[in-house]
Amino acid sequence: MAVWGRAAPLATMDEVSHKVTLIPGDGIGPEVASAARKAVDATGVKIDWEVAELSGDIIAKTGQSIPQYVLDSVDRTKVGLKGPVTTPIGGGYTSVNVGLRKKLDLFANVRPVYTIPGINTRYQDVKIDMVLFRENTEDLYSGLEHEVVKGVVTGIKVITRVASTRIAEYAFEYAAANGRKKVSAIHKANIMKLADGLFLQCCREVAAKYPQIEYNELIVDNASMQMVTKPQQYDVLVLPNLYGDIVSDLAAGLVGGLGIVPGANMGFNHAVFEAVHGSAPDIAGKGLANPTAMMLSAVMMLRHLKEIDACERLKAAVEKVYAEGKHTTGDVGGKAGTSEFTDAVIANL
Ligand code: NAI
Repeated sequence: MAVWGRAAPLATMDEVSHKVTLIPGDGIGPEVASAARKAVDATGVKIDWEVAELSGDIIAKTGQSIPQYVLDSVDRTKVGLKGPVTTPIGGGYTSVNVGLRKKLDLFANVRPVYTIPGINTRYQDVKIDMVLFRENTEDLYSGLEHEVVKGVVTGIKVITRVASTRIAEYAFEYAAANGRKKVSAIHKANIMKLADGLFLQCCREVAAKYPQIEYNELIVDNASMQMVTKPQQYDVLVLPNLYGDIVSDLAAGLVGGLGIVPGANMGFNHAVFEAVHGSAPDIAGKGLANPTAMMLSAVMMLRHLKEIDACERLKAAVEKVYAEGKHTTGDVGGKAGTSEFTDAVIANL
């Protein structure tokens, strides 16, 4: 995988101390966030961590879906490393994750999915290396739901030219800057002719400005099937919010699961790095969580901070643990817990 980001000048370790907001989250969040923090600190990069606690309990107690101190902190530091936060199903408070992305206008959700040698998957002989660009601010995640009469509910899907164009531009710009060959737009414009039709129209307009990059379009159901049968065909994908959410979990399943895949929420002024996975209540507090996804999110963060040397060393240190295969976690068939995996990464630095 090319680590996400543009080529940037190297920073030396003594030069800079970066301010970063660390949001441990809840469930397995604090476990994987602490592992990632330790690994980042072990690279020698100087980070001034500002810890902002955020959990389902805090939200329920304060009644604020995103406490102001969290927003203030990310506004100050401009960069966040975030663990997952639980969202209640079918009621309760609205998603803090979606809320944070909207409040800070983190419009691009970037999720690189690639084969890590040593992880046993059904795609052992296939080289998977794709980057998903999920629109992060609208679509069916706008939270506009309405009970018309008892037993009849509508949910509004919002697609705008502005948001569709900027995610397409982001995806194409990334592709051009990173030597990627193809961008695939994923849609359901055969059914949602106006909404997904507009998304597609914007992708086509942007694609026309990048004649050197191949562009194709796939309907989301077929795209999902082809992701299972022929994942190596995908390079860069651009998707509206809901399809992006679903397809990125599907893609994660190809390379070892949710414990592996990192992500970045990028805006013009702020960037918040977080794994694709959620708070995993089934294994929370047991020391079993795989911190890889969070560590690779930190790799993306280091790249964003222009700490290229540390970024590459941390990525290589994580990959070496898999290549050696002695200290991997249960989700990928190993026996180690979070701490043992973390210690092995740090030893490799
Ligand atoms: P999940 O991603 O938390 O868990 C799905 C499955 O993957 C579980 O079996 C879990 O044990 C496993 N898994 C996830 N991460 C893992 C890791 N690092 N190591 C080992 N195994 C791991 O998805 P689920 O169960 O659908 O959601 C749980 C909660 O998380 C919900 O409240 C949901 O809203 C929230 N969530 C939060 C996100 C965020 O904060 N960005 C993203 C996705 C879900």
